[in-house]
Amino acid sequence: MSEKRVKFATKLGIVAAAAGSAVGLGNIWRFPSQTADGGGAIFIFVYVGCILFFGIPLMVSEFVVGRAAQANTAGAFHKLSPGTQWKWVGRLGVLTGFVIMGFYMVVCGWTLDYFFQSLSGNLHRVSDFTTNFNTLLSNPLRQILWMILFTGMTAFFILSGVKKGIEQSSKFLMPLLFLLLFILAIRSVLLEGSSQGLNFLFKPSMEHVKPTLFLDAMGQAFFSLSIGMGCMITYGSYFNSDINFTKTAVQVSLLDSMVAILAGVIIFPSAFALSTNAGTIVDELVAGGPGLLFITLPELFNQMPLSIVWATLFFCLLSVAALTSTISLMEVVTVYLNEEYRLSRRRSTLLTSFGVIILGVISSLSPPFFNMLDVASAKFMLPLGGLFISLFVGWYLDRKLVSAQLTNEGTLNYGVAFLKVYIFVLRYVAPAAILAIFIYGLVG
Ligand code: PFF
Repeated sequence: MSEKRVKFATKLGIVAAAAGSAVGLGNIWRFPSQTADGGGAIFIFVYVGCILFFGIPLMVSEFVVGRAAQANTAGAFHKLSPGTQWKWVGRLGVLTGFVIMGFYMVVCGWTLDYFFQSLSGNLHRVSDFTTNFNTLLSNPLRQILWMILFTGMTAFFILSGVKKGIEQSSKFLMPLLFLLLFILAIRSVLLEGSSQGLNFLFKPSMEHVKPTLFLDAMGQAFFSLSIGMGCMITYGSYFNSDINFTKTAVQVSLLDSMVAILAGVIIFPSAFALSTNAGTIVDELVAGGPGLLFITLPELFNQMPLSIVWATLFFCLLSVAALTSTISLMEVVTVYLNEEYRLSRRRSTLLTSFGVIILGVISSLSPPFFNMLDVASAKFMLPLGGLFISLFVGWYLDRKLVSAQLTNEGTLNYGVAFLKVYIFVLRYVAPAAILAIFIYGLVG
């Protein structure tokens, strides 16, 4: 642990790495299906509230803990509060990372499968996209092979120096993904009959509201921003001393939310416009669940000239976005094993991958297990981790240390009021809101 920690080379590299972790399947696959399930605009409204009220402050808090401690997630709590039980928050984070990978890698595998379906032209020849997706789901072996390949790719990037390469390349691949999403959104909105989809997305209605609305939206916010498990603690420990945490957290959250909303603008107008059964479309969307992206999007591509090119490019960029997220997830577990148990980086990575593959195999064989990992991580473990992190920074950590981290030792000119509001949010607002949502979601 005495060796000097590697730092991200440039400021852009930092935003790219943090944004690379945040932007992933959570935005493009999970957000649309959660939005469908949560009743559309009303879900998005609560979701944005969660990002603002505790998403951004919590991301900043994780950066504070990481850079102050210069250690992995569990080590960070141990170092900043020796001899206390806070280390369990870090351990919970490591476990959460593991649980997320257990189902996330399976979806990464679907993405790779669709990439090859597009590239080979097979996707182009499909006439019923629902059946096409269900065929994949009913073939565990096919899912398992892709999942193992994706886990292997992630491990490769964690182990090799190529990680720098991915940092570099995500600087142009991410904007490219953004541009592509933008083009697809325009195409989707221009479809005849798309306006109903836009209404569903942006015009709040109480028609489909569920009692778990707040818990679902909060879970999605945590999941999408990669907060609540110490991923941003690990990344924060690589940050240079001149990084402005608040600015970085705002930039990452903004980018992340824009990608999610864009994904919504692509999927919902298309789904409504291309549905043959407009009357039951919302029920269909809800029933479609995790398949939404893999059913609706290929339908949209088929409406476009050069559909093979669009589909291939899309699933390729989506795989890259997913990879930058799985790298950050695996990094949390690997660095923990490496620093806390003194296993070599290689062993830590192999051990983590092995565990992930086992969970991934069970998830591929059993959709209820897959769902359980999804619900347990997004709706319980991440918010719980977030609750403890806000309490830790708000109540336990020395106020001087927090303000030194936030202001970069006084070089950033935040007024006293800013710090006061920030601490107030962490002490009272975030914990109370998270707790209330939790209890309401469980009892309601
Ligand atoms: N934020 C990622 C996504 O939206 O796809 C998923 C994720 C990555 C969650 C890293 C948590 C994490 F620590």
